[in-house]
Amino acid sequence: MKASYNLSGFLLFSLLGSISPTIAADKFSIKLPISARTPPVESDSAVVYYPSKSKFSPLFLGNDGSAETGGFHVYQLPQKRDGSVVKEVKAFKTGRSKLVEIVYGEKKDFVVTLSMSDGLLRVFEIDGKGVGVVKAEKIVRGDFSAVCSWKSGVGGYVYVLGKRWGYRFLIREKKGRRGVEVVETQEFGIPVEPNSCTVSPEGKVFFAGDSGKVFSFLAVEETAAPKIEEAGELGGGDEVKGLKIYHGKKDTYLLVGLEDGIEVFDIKELGSSLGRIEFDDEDLEVGDFAIYQRGGKGYEDGSIVFAGEDGEGKFFGISSLTPLFKALGKGKVNTKYDPRDCNDGHTKPKKCSSLSNCNGYGYCPKKSRDKKAVCDCFPGLAGKTCTKITCPSNCTSPSHGTCTGPNTCTCIPPFTGENCATLAVPARYETEESGGADGDDPAIWIHPTDRKKSRIITTVKSEVGSGLGVYDLKGKRTGGVSGGEPNNVDVLYGVEVGGRKVDLAVAACRADDTICMYEITPTGDLNTIPGGVQALPPAVKDLEKKFKVYGSCVYHSPKTGAYHIFINSKSSLYLQFQLSTTTDGKLNTTLVRHFYAGNRGQVEGCVVDDENSRLFLGEEPYGLWSYDAEPDQPAVGTLVDNTVVDGGNLHADVEGVTLVYGKTKKEGYIIVSCQGYSEYNIYQRYPPHEFVMRFSIPDNKEKGVDRVTNTDGITAVGTNLGREWPYGMVVVHDDVNEAVSGGVRADATFKIVGLGDVLGNKAVEGLGLLRGVDEEWDPRK
Ligand SMILES: *[C@@H]1O[C@H](CO)[C@@H](O)[C@H](O)[C@H]1NC(C)=O
Ligand SMILES: *[C@@H]1O[C@H](CO)[C@@H](O)[C@H](O)[C@H]1NC(C)=O
Repeated sequence: MKASYNLSGFLLFSLLGSISPTIAADKFSIKLPISARTPPVESDSAVVYYPSKSKFSPLFLGNDGSAETGGFHVYQLPQKRDGSVVKEVKAFKTGRSKLVEIVYGEKKDFVVTLSMSDGLLRVFEIDGKGVGVVKAEKIVRGDFSAVCSWKSGVGGYVYVLGKRWGYRFLIREKKGRRGVEVVETQEFGIPVEPNSCTVSPEGKVFFAGDSGKVFSFLAVEETAAPKIEEAGELGGGDEVKGLKIYHGKKDTYLLVGLEDGIEVFDIKELGSSLGRIEFDDEDLEVGDFAIYQRGGKGYEDGSIVFAGEDGEGKFFGISSLTPLFKALGKGKVNTKYDPRDCNDGHTKPKKCSSLSNCNGYGYCPKKSRDKKAVCDCFPGLAGKTCTKITCPSNCTSPSHGTCTGPNTCTCIPPFTGENCATLAVPARYETEESGGADGDDPAIWIHPTDRKKSRIITTVKSEVGSGLGVYDLKGKRTGGVSGGEPNNVDVLYGVEVGGRKVDLAVAACRADDTICMYEITPTGDLNTIPGGVQALPPAVKDLEKKFKVYGSCVYHSPKTGAYHIFINSKSSLYLQFQLSTTTDGKLNTTLVRHFYAGNRGQVEGCVVDDENSRLFLGEEPYGLWSYDAEPDQPAVGTLVDNTVVDGGNLHADVEGVTLVYGKTKKEGYIIVSCQGYSEYNIYQRYPPHEFVMRFSIPDNKEKGVDRVTNTDGITAVGTNLGREWPYGMVVVHDDVNEAVSGGVRADATFKIVGLGDVLGNKAVEGLGLLRGVDEEWDPRK
């Protein structure tokens, strides 16, 4: 999609020839020398801490997104420009995280971070001496990628924004008692998946993501969803990596970070950029950044901290802002800035003694003296003065749980989840560690004669450990092949090659942008096969110049007997290839159809229902779609279900998709993994694809198999695989592989769950779900 935009822009430009784009004549361009850098760290966001007293030195914090050391790091902000290595004060291992932010409260200051491994928002105290202990926690379900804070008269607010969803929390010290609480004050849908946000002194929140478009809304103390507006295409079509405000004496600047530099806008004039900041490092890619406005030795006009990546890896760099104010004018510097000053006039909290000030759990209405006036209660609270608690679906009470706090359910096992409607089913086994940190979508190969000898095939897409792993049904490694960086693997049965019938493991290999195929031997080993590496035909580059393979799935047509492979790019372009063999016995592929899927959001996981000739694909931010899998049919998508934001049952990211065949064409199930929630939605396989239920995978303490978090790929078969697996199994990717003894292991594993434990669970017995499974299903028939 991006390529076609570029193309039309280029055509327009050449047609108009003499007209050049409007660039302000006096637009500045500066290159900041990098004065200091940290040791390598897996980080992409930064925040600066202003201590309340000048005797303490300023700090900066960065997230840590790695599996093993995930959490955040605290560094001393250098006050000298001597090129020294920046000193780390402390590292906190709270779990893989994209987010860390400072919240300035009424009296105290806090660090807020959200862990992707346990979904816990943690609040630490911070002061001039450093970061203390956790003061409060709150479970926040979903995948969040942007955070920004704002101070009002009642305490510090923090916005947490992610996969098309946003929350606002109030972090406040508890009255009278010691301690800190996190109170949810607003929740709302958002049009994009942002990766940065910032709040202006006027109380305007700006956020942006992939497309380069910046959006804004007003931070008003009410619970209704804010009105979101487009503030402009400030990224010029490129992904916005960071957004920050510079609080001038009179002017306010919005800084928009792009991969190769930072554009500086006057907030009153978002139409054109004042100039551009770049850094003196040729190979640098800039991520998020933070501004420290106060001066220091060698940094008289303040400094900038940025998350960078160059030939030496990922790190934080620090530069002086003096060149910026040489360009903007010396009079614009404001080294007196204090984030503890309340942000603005819109947000003075109202009092309403006639309504008991809403008990501190709501906002006062406009005419609070009016007899009919009721408080504007925070989510999960209700009643005239916000004294009643409420929960989603009342926690499916009384059979599954009870509402014990604002939007907080206490569930009766085996039920879990935000409304106790999710069935918790522990894994029976996990695969041995895969040798790489990033696994994704697995497959199950069914043995032709002895089902117990079937194999699980897994993927590792990270550079280190990349390849396919082969495991037995208890997770013991039996083989594999290295290389290729495949995301998704699937099995084709009985393909005729050179006079033999072979089974193939088929994947898209990101390392060299190919379709990669291996022969599966009768004992379940993987072997190379002639023609097993298929480069994409040149025609693909005509469709999309930057096409890069991403997800994949396979189809064996019952109508023509042909074997097909679907490959997609992140841009949602699907390529359908037909598999054939050449006269000299090599595999070959022919591009037979292409189409853009869904709403053109990012896609990856897919599966084909061979029997019904339907392709199912997950559009990560929006939902599940189905298409006719036959190449001569029009590619018209049917929406199976969409995300909760849009009124459906799915949670973004919609990732892996798999299916279980039934005894008839109308039976069986589709299972979809929802990454941010680590839950799986089950649907009927046949239209209208009724939603059946959700499940998740908790710790299996008895067997020492940890829970599944930040799940991605999934595969399932309903076939009887021996005594332990009478209804087959589900195998899922587990992103954060926690060690049962505590901590996190570096390498990924896959968890193995009995499908009978899910569909035949006693707690859902009444639904009779096992009847929809064909235990005799044979992929070779
Ligand atoms: C929610 O469930 C509880 C019992 O767990 C019940 O007492 C209460 O009336 C229910 N509330 C609503 C609004 O249905
Ligand atoms: C492989 O398929 C391509 C695309 O259909 C075709 O052009 C080519 O001739 C085939 N190669 C052989 C050796 O058959």
